[in-house]
Amino acid sequence: MASERGGSSGAPPADTIVVLCRSGFEAECIAELGSSSASGAVSGGGFVSIPAEPRSGDEAALRLPRFRGLAFARDRFLGRAFRIADPSDRISPLLSLAREFGPIGTVWLQHADTEDGRSVGRLCQRLQARFEGGLGKAGLLRAASPRRLHVLFLDGTHGFIGVSDARNGARWSMGIPRLRLAGAPSRSASKLEEGLLWFLGDDPKGLLAPGMSAVDLGAAPGGWTWVLARRGLRVSAVDHGRLSAAALDAGLVNYVSADAFTYRPQRPVDWMVCDVVDKPARTAALVQRWLQQRWCRRTVFNLKLPMKQRHAELQRILARLLQDLGPGLRLEARQLYHDREEVTVFATLG
Ligand SMILES: C[S@@+](CC[C@H](N)C(=O)[O-])C[C@H]1O[C@@H](n2cnc3c(N)ncnc32)[C@H](O)[C@@H]1O
Repeated sequence: MASERGGSSGAPPADTIVVLCRSGFEAECIAELGSSSASGAVSGGGFVSIPAEPRSGDEAALRLPRFRGLAFARDRFLGRAFRIADPSDRISPLLSLAREFGPIGTVWLQHADTEDGRSVGRLCQRLQARFEGGLGKAGLLRAASPRRLHVLFLDGTHGFIGVSDARNGARWSMGIPRLRLAGAPSRSASKLEEGLLWFLGDDPKGLLAPGMSAVDLGAAPGGWTWVLARRGLRVSAVDHGRLSAAALDAGLVNYVSADAFTYRPQRPVDWMVCDVVDKPARTAALVQRWLQQRWCRRTVFNLKLPMKQRHAELQRILARLLQDLGPGLRLEARQLYHDREEVTVFATLG
């Protein structure tokens, strides 16, 4: 762990990049931050800490790598380790540390997404309002500021504190969205809903709108189809497996019993989505064919990652798509909170 300091020391307060990720994907996080990160990096369950060039608190948020360029990071900030000497008062030492990072717009109290981490989550909930109140009284809260203060508790007394910039950072604290999907036919529905929110934002108007057409490859039992139909798209749902009544009842859905790899749309569609369970290179080749043939304009697809070399395999696949489809391709990959051993990718040709 990076050196622990408990308050103002005169030293630049930010010397560690802290990344939250799905537990088991720490090595991928380190790998995608670049080879220089590997030395000195420390992995815990669901997070990594990586030594960084020391920065003052004011500039720390601006010195972070582009967040949308990272596939495995759920959230990340630049800061430093802390240790609270007396757990009967956590607020005062945290406030004195927060001062070193200057005014902020939001504060996120965080924990790793592991069993131990989640037990610390209750502590975070308890502290949130009091800490925010203290920051307000100290004049450190500025509603318009894009700077976020992160306090990551690893246990009741240790953790990391630092900052990020909302314009170059996670959309949800710890990368965990709160979705409302009551009645969805499958758990997978959350993957597509989260993916659309992350890749397209809350108001994707020109990109995804009622009346558009879509093909869902590997659709059964119908979660992704349901998400698209709920947004007013007409969906051809392709699978040999059966679609649930919830998906069919959503309206606008045409079930096609066919093979995802040989199916051809009768006419080009706005969207193709694909969640088939197959080798990632095979899925990517299928997507490439759809884009190259202009059978769809945009796509969201899920890649099931191999057990080993997951970062390298993902990079190989993305590089191949970029090389074959040209510089007009917008491509973004992300291991969503609702993804397991997989990543979700958005691609569109300009
Ligand atoms: C992970 S499930 C899809 C879940 C779906 N996205 C949802 O939200 O309910 C994968 C689906 O891909 C289908 N599948 C796998 N290989 C296929 C193929 N070659 N052609 C058509 N469907 C395929 C399976 O039948 C299975 O229903």
